[in-house]
Amino acid sequence: MCGIIGFTGLDDAKEALIDGLQSLEYRGYDSAGISFFEGSSDKIDTIKTVGKVSCLADKVEEEGNMETTCGIGHTRWATHGGVTEVNSHPHTAGRVTLIHNGIIENYGELAEELAKEGIKPVSQTDSEIAAMVINYYYDGNPVEAIKNATKRFEGAYGFCIMFKEYPGEIYAIRNGSPLVATHYDGGSVIASDVVALIKYSKDYFVLQEQQIARLTKTDITIQDMDGREIDPEYLHVSWDIAAARKGGYDYFMLKEIHEQPEALQKTIMPRIKDGMPYLLDDGIDDDVFKNCNRVVIAGCGTAMHAGLVGKNMMEKLTRIPVSVEIASEYRYADPIIDDKTLFMCISQSGETADTIAALRLAKEKGAKTISVVNVKGSSIARESDYVLYTHAGPEIAVASTKAYSVQLSCMYLLAFRMAAARKSLVDDEIKELVKLLKKTITDVTKLLKYDSQIENISTMLHKASNLFFIGRGLDYALSCEGSIKLKEISYIHSEAYAAGELKHGTISLITDNVPVIALATQDNVYGKMISNVQEVRSRGASVILITNAGVSVDPALCDHQIMLPKMDDRFAPFGAAIILQYIAYYTAVGRGLNVDQPRNLAKSVTVE
Ligand code: M6R
Repeated sequence: MCGIIGFTGLDDAKEALIDGLQSLEYRGYDSAGISFFEGSSDKIDTIKTVGKVSCLADKVEEEGNMETTCGIGHTRWATHGGVTEVNSHPHTAGRVTLIHNGIIENYGELAEELAKEGIKPVSQTDSEIAAMVINYYYDGNPVEAIKNATKRFEGAYGFCIMFKEYPGEIYAIRNGSPLVATHYDGGSVIASDVVALIKYSKDYFVLQEQQIARLTKTDITIQDMDGREIDPEYLHVSWDIAAARKGGYDYFMLKEIHEQPEALQKTIMPRIKDGMPYLLDDGIDDDVFKNCNRVVIAGCGTAMHAGLVGKNMMEKLTRIPVSVEIASEYRYADPIIDDKTLFMCISQSGETADTIAALRLAKEKGAKTISVVNVKGSSIARESDYVLYTHAGPEIAVASTKAYSVQLSCMYLLAFRMAAARKSLVDDEIKELVKLLKKTITDVTKLLKYDSQIENISTMLHKASNLFFIGRGLDYALSCEGSIKLKEISYIHSEAYAAGELKHGTISLITDNVPVIALATQDNVYGKMISNVQEVRSRGASVILITNAGVSVDPALCDHQIMLPKMDDRFAPFGAAIILQYIAYYTAVGRGLNVDQPRNLAKSVTVE
């Protein structure tokens, strides 16, 4: 959710903070602010504003002509308290100034205690209460104040804190919310995401839960709650700064759509050996698949939709029962899990609070856990028994595109390896599937050239207020993904429906010119699907029909037909995903919206 950064070093901290916040803005963009030590003095200045980081940059330009080499910055996704300047971070209480990512769940109770001592907040935020509690325990020793205060906090937090008596120093602690840091020649930097560090170094470490970091311009020291010094384990990022920039595209989303062939190549190819799926380099051996009698896949939003495709493939190829669970529901559902359950979770960020909680529950109940994660060293990756990293590089746009495609590819690889381990298919059959999976990389490349065709077709959606995505089987799973993509960035209400289910209620919403995006790529249900399209058509719907290559339909059936390149229908999701991403993108652009930063949303949902 919120983006946080701390910088202490030789250079201008204001510039470093604004630059860092710009790269973190996808995590929240309700308001932004910075605090910094003036020169080498103990005077802390704060500049904050409602709105985007660009508004903050303007304000800093106007007001912030003082020199500084140490400060903290925050870009907010509001949880507690409205979007106002007073609720923006940083928050100061006495001699403590902090930024916070997460939620202090017991802040009400803490506020009451403070009120009894006559200490009252000025904002409506849980974060200011946190600052007040830390200040309450602060008697000149920052580490002791942090330890005593955090013992009182329930909930998730990543804090960067400055103490008035310690110019040039930043203290940080996390519980749940991510923090990564690096030290380089010019100083020390800490942030909620590695995209803000890459400018300084490709080597970084993840601050672990309940560790306290102290950053100065000469080094970073870390200790645990018992005062033991910790040597952090440095990780290396394989992509460079260009990957986290727009690189000439209008939006990150468009750039990321175009990065899919490369992301698929990097995710699939190292996992193929002698024509067979090979997961041993990821530490996943066949026993994991042999020893389970069911699979549970959990995730949120798009990641969960990748799971729907995974279920379809795994059940078809292995005959093992697979269920797909919405992580936020799963954790409270008292689910049936045992040591024969193979629990898979999917997450781009690896920091989604609900998915982490579902994973922890599955582990606690004895399941073996595999995660499909994009961010190295993230919480989900660290806490799973096995990790299959997707190699999409940084995904900045809130709408997930390339991460979805590579998640699909991992679902297929897992399904293939599981079929090999359990011998539900013979090797030749699996090799054939592997070839088809490799072929998706070229098919997706071809589909990227559909941009102008889909841009034209999407004009019919610009004025829509409601629309439907329908499909059967894998196409239903893709409909769910098409629908979330469209609504999150275009603000058009849409629903995904299993095409056969329409007649059981929803078809009453189909009237003249209601757009229906119908996916008919699955051979075994093609005839049935066309009948469903006819049903909506005869009630006046405007139809965009997505089919396999070479399928000719009665021109009266739809307004537009979009044909995939020639693809085996089991692999059609890779193609349909690109079409649906383009439909969402061009519809949102056509409506004049900021595609990368849709209202109310944030990229990484680290609160429940
Ligand atoms: O980081 P995660 O993959 O765990 O995130 C899960 C969802 O929040 C995410 O996929 C969300 O649905 C996307 N914004 C959809 O485009």
